[in-house]
Amino acid sequence: MSSSPSHIPLVDLVAQYQAIKPEMDVAISTIIGNGHFIGGEPIKAFAREFAAYANVPFCIPCANGTDAIEIALGVLGIGPGDEVILPSFTFVATLEAVCNVGATPVLCDIDPHRYTIDPYKAISLVTPATKAFIPVHLFGQMADMDPLVAFASDNNLFIIEDAAQAHGAMYKGKKAGSIGDINTFSFYPGKNLGAYGDAGAITTSSQWLYDKIFKIVNHGRVSKYDHEIVGRNSRMDTLQAAILSVKLRHLEAWTAKRQNIAARYRALLSNLDSIQMTREYADSPGVYHLFVIRVDKDIRDDFRSYLKSKGIETGIHYPISLSRLKVTTDQLKIDVYCPEAEKASEEVVSLPIYPELTDLQQDYICDHIKTYFQK
Ligand SMILES: Cc1ncc(COP(=O)(O)O)c(C=O)c1O
Repeated sequence: MSSSPSHIPLVDLVAQYQAIKPEMDVAISTIIGNGHFIGGEPIKAFAREFAAYANVPFCIPCANGTDAIEIALGVLGIGPGDEVILPSFTFVATLEAVCNVGATPVLCDIDPHRYTIDPYKAISLVTPATKAFIPVHLFGQMADMDPLVAFASDNNLFIIEDAAQAHGAMYKGKKAGSIGDINTFSFYPGKNLGAYGDAGAITTSSQWLYDKIFKIVNHGRVSKYDHEIVGRNSRMDTLQAAILSVKLRHLEAWTAKRQNIAARYRALLSNLDSIQMTREYADSPGVYHLFVIRVDKDIRDDFRSYLKSKGIETGIHYPISLSRLKVTTDQLKIDVYCPEAEKASEEVVSLPIYPELTDLQQDYICDHIKTYFQK
């Protein structure tokens, strides 16, 4: 049994900061020192760098990933009377954005191995009122996009990729955020690329959409007091852009570390029949925002308590599928059964994964998982 690290968190943002402290401190103090906190070159630079990273012509930094989805829906003209199909297993933000533009969310079940929207079930839910699909690339794994893209282009439907958890993930040679009409990212602190506060981005290949979104996020303005369209304030802070530019330089290396940690988990836990790991897809390598296993629902709480007693933090993403959330059933009065999403919500457990997780810590986690199941 490996020796005992005192506490292993699910995510360790302090360890990440310590690893990049000198360059991060310079970036932050430069912004504070020059007193320009809104707009400016750091925003433009991050937009260029992130567009290049996601391999897409345009990127518009914005305030957070939820705004990004809402703005994407709005600029596509989606609103009251329109239906938008999204997975029933995701963070609530995807649902909120649809509701906040006045459109009707249509919840679709997931592929139980990929944890992302089942494209064939999504297509079966299309009605004359459907305007868009929002595939969510959950846990760092891209959704199976080809069937959706083919159907959407034949039927004049839009695709908005919610890539909040999938910076750098690939699908058949294409990067997350480069496939849909408009695509959205979150830089919430715990994301693979995380700000020191809230931040988000929108990507697109359309110059026309870029021009419009660029104005919307900054009060519809074309210059300081020249406002052309109804916009809003969804600007990314200059400080966050500078922070994200520093971190973006490390993202490829961090992703490789996450992928190595995931491979080690798979090897170390491979002989345990009591847990089920996510499938890997050779044509769409994931970036392991989370490392999710499944256990029997009757032992999940006990399993997590055991690991907690050994100093190992775990998470549940997500304990209630969207189809069973009160906002869905009680407020929105949506009655839908999504068996795979509901089953997943009862069985999933997220294990610690972050680039700074050491082999020693990971051995300790896996030793205790094995001990639990062999007792
Ligand atoms: C899948 C998904 N979509 C949207 C969001 C919303 O992003 P934000 O928290 O930046 O508003 C998140 C983030 O938490 C997310 O995980």
